[in-house]
Amino acid sequence: MHLNFSEMYVDSDIKKAVEQVLDSGRYIKGDNLRQFEREFADFCNTKFAVGVSSGTAAILLSLMALGIKKGDEVVVPSHTFIATASPVKFLGATPVYVDIDPVTYTIDPAKLESPITENTKAIIPVHLYGHPANMDPIKELAKKHNLTLIEDSCQAHAAEYKGQKTGSIGDLAIFSFFPSKNMTVAGDGGMVTTNNEELAQKISMLRDHGRTGKYIHEMLGLNLRLSEIPAAVGRQQLKHLNEWTDSRRRVAKKYNTLLDGVVETPTEAQWAKHVYHLYVVQTDDRDGLSKHLNDHGVSTGIHYPVPVHKQPCMKVANVNLPVTDACVDRILSLPMHPQLTDEQIEYVAEKVKEWIK
Ligand SMILES: Cc1ncc(COP(=O)(O)O)c(C=O)c1O
Repeated sequence: MHLNFSEMYVDSDIKKAVEQVLDSGRYIKGDNLRQFEREFADFCNTKFAVGVSSGTAAILLSLMALGIKKGDEVVVPSHTFIATASPVKFLGATPVYVDIDPVTYTIDPAKLESPITENTKAIIPVHLYGHPANMDPIKELAKKHNLTLIEDSCQAHAAEYKGQKTGSIGDLAIFSFFPSKNMTVAGDGGMVTTNNEELAQKISMLRDHGRTGKYIHEMLGLNLRLSEIPAAVGRQQLKHLNEWTDSRRRVAKKYNTLLDGVVETPTEAQWAKHVYHLYVVQTDDRDGLSKHLNDHGVSTGIHYPVPVHKQPCMKVANVNLPVTDACVDRILSLPMHPQLTDEQIEYVAEKVKEWIK
């Protein structure tokens, strides 16, 4: 048996949608982008959604719209993909790292207040692996210190916090449609969601050369647009998102039952709807288990082996993140996608048990 770690879904509707764009001759800023933005905003229950070229672009543009600059500080977890924090540094500001909660792998609200200074401008909680961060206490702190809250929902399409969709909780939220994500655009793509009209308009302009007319550029912008072909694919994928989310939850439930007491399985907080972008277990001999699984045709991943604050381009001294540091050598992501069959899940679990014994 060979099991992919993640799989992209393609059907005839998706192929037809791509073909229609190719035949239309309209490749940017057309109806597909406009409608994808409307449909995605409706899905997240936000007033606005702005399609952009990647999740990284979504963070960069959000920070640019907020005017984040040198001297500013932005609070982020370190246990995340680098793109949560790198745009902060790219703009000359300073990412300030906060440790995670060991159960949900998301930023620990109890550790959030002490690093806040008069230079802090924003907090970026990450709904990592598809599990929402504990947003109420984070929101409270943001309000108390007058900070902008940006949800990094790149791994959490359709997740919920106390019944509210992620992407609709902070001032702004960002999504990625990278091919392995819970929904994709068959390439790179991203979205910013918000209820703030002024920010939505600013981000729309910033992604498109800051223009107000064809050759009138009101502000300094970039080209970080989402093209028509990915937008058309995204619209088709969005139609399946609820059904795929149910399926991911089915896969996780089966893994949980089969692996209970064998490895540390993921937890879903009682206020959370976890969408299992990744199914991450912990065990002492992570590398041995990973090799055993790979030897038996089971692809695995490590998300992430090096925390952001230890990356060569992001390194900072004197950062103490014991929970982050403790989990990086123990975490292993097992295959997770909506098409996994019971037989395949059983095979993975059997191979895990074979190694752990
Ligand atoms: C948590 C997180 N933030 C940001 C990003 C960046 O998204 P993209 O790869 O679309 O630029 C990703 C995606 O890989 C991610 O997982």
